[in-house]
Amino acid sequence: MSVHIAAKKGEIAKTVLQPGDPLRAKYIADNFLNDVKLVSQTRNIFYYTGLYKGKEISVGASGMGIPSIGIYSFELYTEYEVDTIIRIGTCGAYTTDLKLFDLLNVENSASESTYAKFAWGIEEELLKSQGNVFETINQTAKNLSLNLQPTNIHTSDIFYRKDEKIPAIATKYNCSAVEMEAFALFANAQHFGKNAATILTVSDIIPTREQISADQREKALKPMIELALETAFQ
Ligand code: HPA
Repeated sequence: MSVHIAAKKGEIAKTVLQPGDPLRAKYIADNFLNDVKLVSQTRNIFYYTGLYKGKEISVGASGMGIPSIGIYSFELYTEYEVDTIIRIGTCGAYTTDLKLFDLLNVENSASESTYAKFAWGIEEELLKSQGNVFETINQTAKNLSLNLQPTNIHTSDIFYRKDEKIPAIATKYNCSAVEMEAFALFANAQHFGKNAATILTVSDIIPTREQISADQREKALKPMIELALETAFQ
């Protein structure tokens, strides 16, 4: 047991898929894993461990935002000896070059957040995905004939804001989209020498305000889930 996860030691696999939403974790466990066990439901943040094509994989939520993924990924890496976390989430596109449902593989995350600095003394505002999972995801997408774009993204603490202009840091680092977690995940992984990647599906286009409807979401996220599972399987 850790502070925020009730699983016993050994009940979480070496590789964890991490959506933001606990119900997304349940959907993956119910539809893609065999011999599944619910290993934690503290705060309704569900963690499941099961088999994908015979390999043990866990799936559990990060919650929303840097503080939340900072807590869960820290406890997974340090209390459960997890080697690899693959975040699977959604993002808002800053550019109309991206379309709804596009799949992104995050190479670097840029953030104004002080998380990395005050947690670990990491001063950079641009953090890389960690280890070789990023490359494995690219290769796996090729094998699956999935269209996947490697890109930099902005990890922001802000969902609603007064000014809809693209934030300066996103322009500075050529970030095509925004989400709210990858930076803290990469910071934790960098500090502990672990692997971390983030795959995103474009759920909204910020300049045009187009968005995936609630009932399109489940279908929309399927290619991303399959890509993450096939990557974890390797
Ligand atoms: N902003 C931040 N995070 C997001 C967005 C957004 O527009 N869309 C999906 N995740």
